[in-house]
Amino acid sequence: MIVIKSADEIALMRESGRILAAILEEVKRAVQPGIRTSALDDVVVEEVRRYGVIASFKGYSGYPASVCVSVNNEIVHGIPGGRILKEGDIVSVDCGVCYRGFHSDAAVTVGVGEISAEARTLIEVTEKSLDAGVAEARAGNHVGDISVAVQKYVESHGFAVVREYTGHGVGRELHEEPQIPNFECGRGALLKKGMTIAIEPMVTAGGWRTRVASNRWTVLTKDGSLAAHFEHSVGITDGDAEVFA
Ligand code: MF3
Ligand code: CO
Repeated sequence: MIVIKSADEIALMRESGRILAAILEEVKRAVQPGIRTSALDDVVVEEVRRYGVIASFKGYSGYPASVCVSVNNEIVHGIPGGRILKEGDIVSVDCGVCYRGFHSDAAVTVGVGEISAEARTLIEVTEKSLDAGVAEARAGNHVGDISVAVQKYVESHGFAVVREYTGHGVGRELHEEPQIPNFECGRGALLKKGMTIAIEPMVTAGGWRTRVASNRWTVLTKDGSLAAHFEHSVGITDGDAEVFA
C-alpha cells in the first residue's frame, strides 16, 4: 500500500532527514586512508545516540550494523568490519535513521584520497543521475519517469544501472511501496503530493549484473567493476520534490 503523509508527518520526515544528512557529513569527514570500515559504524553509533534517533538498519532483516559501507566493486549492503580503506578506494556509505517514528534513508559515494579519473567520473555520473531522477519526482508524473531519467543519464555516459535492487517508499517503515527502479520497467505508480520515496541509483563502470557475497549481505558487481551509489529520501509536492536527506 502506498502511504500519503500529512503535513505534520512531512515535518517529521524533514527533521529525520536533517539529522541523517548531518550524520552522513560526519561519516564523510571520517573517511581517510588507513581507517577500518568499522570506524564509520562507530561514528554512526555515536551520532545516533547524540541526536536521540534510532539507526534504521541495525537489526533490519538481521542486518548486523548501523550503516552499510561498500568499497570499490561492492555495490550496496557492505558490512563494516576490519577492512582498511586505502588511497584510491571509493566507498559508498548508506545510512538510515528513525526520528519519532519516521525513517529517512540516504547514501553517498566518496573517494579515499586521490582516486582514478574513471572513479571520479563514475561518482559524478551517479550523483547527477540521482538529481535527474529527483527532477522527475513530482505530482502527476509516474514512478517510471524517474526510472527512465536515471537510466538515460547513466547510459548516455557509458555506465550501467543495477536492476536487481531498487529505491522504495520510505516513512513509517524503512521500505514502503512503491519500488523505484532505476531502469525502464513500465509506467509505475502515479506520484501524488504527500508520498515520500527513496531514490537510489546504483551504477557500475561495467555490466549491471550482481552477486551476493558469502556473508549473505554484501552485493558486488558480477564482473568485478567499480560501483557507486547515491540516495536521497524525498517528499512529493505539486512542484519540485523536497529533499529530506
Ligand atoms: N538503504 C538500503 C535500502 O534502501 C537499506 C539497507 S538494508 C539493511 O535498501 F538491511 F542494511 F538495512
Ligand atoms: Co534505500
